Amino acid sequence: MRQSLIMGNWKMNGSAESAKSLCNAIIEGLNTGDAGIAVCAPYVYLADLQALTADSPLAVGAQNVADQASGAYTGEISATMLKEFGCEYALVGHSERRTYYGDTDESVAARFCQAQAEGVVPVLCIGETLAEREANETFNVVNRQLDAVIEKAGIEALSNAVIAYEPVWAIGTGVTASDDQAQEVHKAIRERIGAKDQAIADKIQILYGGSMKPANAKGLLGMADIDGGLIGGASLDAQSFLDIYHSV
Ligand code: PGA
Repeated sequence: MRQSLIMGNWKMNGSAESAKSLCNAIIEGLNTGDAGIAVCAPYVYLADLQALTADSPLAVGAQNVADQASGAYTGEISATMLKEFGCEYALVGHSERRTYYGDTDESVAARFCQAQAEGVVPVLCIGETLAEREANETFNVVNRQLDAVIEKAGIEALSNAVIAYEPVWAIGTGVTASDDQAQEVHKAIRERIGAKDQAIADKIQILYGGSMKPANAKGLLGMADIDGGLIGGASLDAQSFLDIYHSV
């Protein structure tokens, strides 16, 4: 049995005060079950969250990580720095990074490797745009994004990583992939990994992301190859986020 994982992605939202109160409200309302729970916060709030979550099951992650270890890379944050502030996870290749900030399959693979080298678990985000889905390119796109990481990091690297399938057309739009649409892609991702290493495929957590909320979480999370959620908008409200977690 794979452990489920419910992960919030706060994106560029909140303030020092609201980040702390959201974190506290999640911890207070949490009935810990078998599933893991984490929030990916803006870098500047990580130190506060590290202190607040120290004695709780709530894990903390970052929303990105540099593709280099250290040096003259103005504005970047290294995996070593994330580790220093208690980050267990780092998102890599979120579609907003790929779309607005020029992240490529290659740079995402490099970020993945940097995180892993420091013991920060990379959460590799992959997914197709609406145009790509309509052109029947979904599987080609997802395979290409996945293969770029496998080529650089090696298949064994996936034994300590998480994948998030996030159809771009479902992110922040209120439109969710149907349970079957999401399951179909999750299954294909697992099979592609399984063709290289079945044990890793059986073990890796593949999260769904894209307008997941309490009302649709149970159906999605009930699918055979969906092991959790990466939740944006609904993770900014403690009760919604907890309702999703408690529906696992
Ligand atoms: P959403 O975002 O839940 O607001 O659609 C998900 C994500 O971008 O990770």
